[in-house]
This record gives sequence, structure tokens and C-alpha cells, in this order.
Amino acid sequence: MARPGLVPFVQQNPDRNRKSKADDEYFQIAICSSANADRGAPASFPGGGNKTRKLEFLMAEARDQGAQTLISGGALQSNHCRQTAAAAARFGFKCILVLTGEKPKQPSANLLLDELFGAEIIYVADRNDRDSILQGTFDRAAKEGMKPYLVPYGGSNSTGALGYAFAMKELMAQNLQADWIVFATSSGGTHAGLLLGQRVFRYKGKLMGISVDEPEEWLKHRVSELASTASEKLGKRIQFTPDEVIANANYCSAGYGVLTEQEREAIRLFATCEGLLLDPVYTGRAAAGMIDLIRKGFFNKDETVLFLHTGGQPALFADQYANKI
Ligand SMILES: Cc1ncc(COP(=O)(O)O)c(C=O)c1O
Repeated sequence: MARPGLVPFVQQNPDRNRKSKADDEYFQIAICSSANADRGAPASFPGGGNKTRKLEFLMAEARDQGAQTLISGGALQSNHCRQTAAAAARFGFKCILVLTGEKPKQPSANLLLDELFGAEIIYVADRNDRDSILQGTFDRAAKEGMKPYLVPYGGSNSTGALGYAFAMKELMAQNLQADWIVFATSSGGTHAGLLLGQRVFRYKGKLMGISVDEPEEWLKHRVSELASTASEKLGKRIQFTPDEVIANANYCSAGYGVLTEQEREAIRLFATCEGLLLDPVYTGRAAAGMIDLIRKGFFNKDETVLFLHTGGQPALFADQYANKI
């Protein structure tokens, strides 16, 4: 599948194997910016984020199919939708986003960027109606000759997951010395791609997805199935099983997007000790979970844990978090 020409963006990060200076407690953490999330590297799309890797493949598929309109959906402050809107603007597609929530008087953060990128936004008050409205939007666009391409929620299907299989290739090429890679997981595409990449490119360490909102069993099945179907696109099916997937759902009970004190602490620690921004929904949760696991002695003292930064920083500037962080 031809790629549309995005810059591969786990770039040589001079800090990738550095130990954190944050505190003795955090000695095990190496931080990797998976999406030009930080460290001044030019983002492929403004704000960066893990969906850009998936979109690299999804855009190619949309283009191969002759699509003219990208349609996707998510939360009001969806990082995925913001990156889809940016990709549409960059590659000359029209973009329609179906977002859950009320239209605010003044858009902020990701929603503001969606508008700036020229996306048409359909607001859905009730999340339960989102699937049907998304499908209806797609059908209407098809009928009107807009040649729609449906970008799945979170960019997570077998095509999008390939982005993270190749992220693993880039990490291995950087002589990755990490016993664990820890990251935020939700729709499962990032985790599935990494799992596939782990097998194909022979990463010997372990992967741990910290759930933002989904139960462990759901994630294990979802990730193994996605990784298996994504492998077919590389030429040969590899059958992954749920028991190969390490998904930790111990840190999501507060609910999606509800900032806990531990997440607030993690955001402040990364910012004050490392000059790195986490986001209040995904990476803040994953980092808080990782810090808790380190404190509990889950990782062996001599193990290196790599925190894969999946982006999301624009959400820090959303009105709803203004006085919470
Ligand atoms: C910043 C960030 N990190 C992690 C994730 C989770 O990735 P995935 O949906 O591939 O599991 C998302 C999903 O939207 C995200 O926006």
C-alpha cells in the first residue's frame, strides 16, 4: 500500500535511553515521544499524537479508494478527530466529524482546531446515538456523491494498526533497550500494532497498555483480534491470542476524561521534572498508572520501562480542565 507521504515520526530522539532525573523513584523511566509529541520535533500534524501514525495508512487507503470525504467520530475533545481533520486539510479531503456533546459557545482546544482545519461538525447530545448518526452521515454523503471514507473510531482497524507495527520497527532501529513499553490504550489500535510489530521485528521486552476506559477482557480480545487481522495486510496471518495481551484496567474506574488526583500529580511531575506535557485523558492516566506500579514494586529494579508518549496535549487547553490541572 502506497503511503501518502507523511514523515515517519518516531524520529531519533536524543533522550530516548536517558534515565529520568525526576526522582530516584522514577529511575526506571525512559520517555519516548511516539508522535513528535514533544521535544520540539516538527509535528506531522499540529498537536501531534498517535493517530497520525494510523492515519498515514488510512489516508493511503482512502486515496486508493478514490475517496473525497473523510468521516469519523469521537468525543468532543477527540485527539483522533482533530488529527483526522488536519489530515483531511493536508491531503485535500473534505472532513465531517460526528462528536458527542453540546456545541459550546466558544470552542476550545481540539474542537477549536477541528474548526480551524475546516471540518464540518455534527454534534450528538447522547453518546448512544453516535453510531447511528455516524452511519447516517456516511450514507447521506455517499448518496450525495461525496465519496466518503469512514475513518474508524480512534483510527483503530487493521489498516490503522499497521502504523504502530512500523513504529516498533523504528524503535528497534534505534537500538531500543527497554524491558517494558507502557502506554495508554483505549480503542486498541496502538496496542495491536505494537503487538504485531513486537512479533515481526523481534522486540524481546513486554508491552503494557494501561486502559483509559475499557475493561481488561474486552481489550485483550480486541487487541489480539486486531493484531491478527493487521498481520494479514503484511502478507501472512499471525494468530494472536488474548492471553498474550497485557492490559491493565486498574486505573480507569473514575471514568473517561475524569481527572483523578493521581493523574494530576503525574501531569505535574512530568511537566516540572521533565518539561514534558501529558494530557488529562490518556497519557496522564497511563503515566499515573505506571508511577503507581513503580511505587508498588511491580517492575524489577533493574528493568527499564519506556513510557510511549501518545500525544493528546491540546486537550490540556480544553475549558473543562482549565481549573482542574
Ligand atoms: C493521546 C492518546 N493516547 C492514547 C490513545 C489510545 O490509543 P488507541 O485508541 O489506539 O488505543 C488515544 C486515543 O484516542 C489518544 O488520543
